[in-house]
Amino acid sequence: MTKRILSCMQPTNRLQLGNYLGALKNWVKLQDEAKDGVSNQCLYGAVDLHAITNGHDPAALANATRETAAAYIAAGVDPSRSYIFAQSHVPQHAQLNWLLSSMTQMGKLERMTQFKDKAGKNAERASLGLFAYPVLMAADILLYKATHVPVGEDQKQHLELTRDIASVFNEKYANGEEYFPLPEPYIMGTATRVMSLRDGTQKMSKSAESDMSRINLTDDADMIAKKFKKAKTDQGNVPASDAEGEGRPEAMNLIGIYAALSDTDMQVVMNEFGGQQFSALKTALSDLAVAKLSPITTRMNELMGDVAEIDAILKAGAEKAQELTQPTLDDVYRMMGFLRG
Ligand code: TYM
Repeated sequence: MTKRILSCMQPTNRLQLGNYLGALKNWVKLQDEAKDGVSNQCLYGAVDLHAITNGHDPAALANATRETAAAYIAAGVDPSRSYIFAQSHVPQHAQLNWLLSSMTQMGKLERMTQFKDKAGKNAERASLGLFAYPVLMAADILLYKATHVPVGEDQKQHLELTRDIASVFNEKYANGEEYFPLPEPYIMGTATRVMSLRDGTQKMSKSAESDMSRINLTDDADMIAKKFKKAKTDQGNVPASDAEGEGRPEAMNLIGIYAALSDTDMQVVMNEFGGQQFSALKTALSDLAVAKLSPITTRMNELMGDVAEIDAILKAGAEKAQELTQPTLDDVYRMMGFLRG
């Protein structure tokens, strides 16, 4: 069976190391994975409609969307094999969103921890879009009948809701048949939750206030070295085992990042650096991060130097995505009983 892989990122601010290690790196792996001559069909979106749900800068949105696509390509997503598209260029997303919204109970959305985190104490002032965000995400996935969704750990709850919405739809409108496959989250590798460099209990995030808390894909070598050097650690030495790393989130985060960047597991890194001072690990980590990320940054900058080319890639991606999704949307309208011409 060909797997249909779909995943997306919000074009808000710059992409950071967590986006790369938790998601993008795995997207490329899945694209390149061909077993018995059967390759995966991969679809990767820049979800600009999601990016406006929590306040946004209209002057920056279009370029952030381009930059997201440029990051995909620079990291190895190949537009001739995978679809790369902007969500707002494929109006079927917003249409399916409405149909799914009408059958999704608000109580289920109230349980979403990401809404609680993002809305904070001011939930009354949060936008309806931020609250309904997971339904649009379900539409993104189900519209393509995706079977696998490679994401970081923070998206797991949204994936569970997507599966729930798919089952409710199948039950209600498809006589219990599996019209929408229940998509599997693919949470791959050792960096499924990269933490902030300033606080090991917080996720690394492109929207966190302090730029020192994250490595951006656009940071240069000096900046990367500076950020790792200043990264918070503790009084001890580098742990040599999980037991020694217990309750030391900052230490384990650096080890996890090193392991993910070098495609190995954390114990291998602990065997190498365990018992040494953190400065040794930090220096090696900076060198490794620069070696892995600088070709991506360079390529991204080159691509951003020719926005017409990126726009053409996004246009072609959206055309293919529309061809793929319109029949699904037509089915759904029909199954829900709409009058169709
Ligand atoms: P977004 O834009 O916040 O993040 C994009 C991807 O990066 C992963 N990620 C991380 N992984 C590990 N450690 C981190 N610190 C870290 N920060 C981010 C996220 O898990 C994600 O995989 N709701 C989604 C976007 C979305 C989507 C979709 C994803 C919309 N529709 C359909 C998959 C399928 C989001 O906000 O991701």
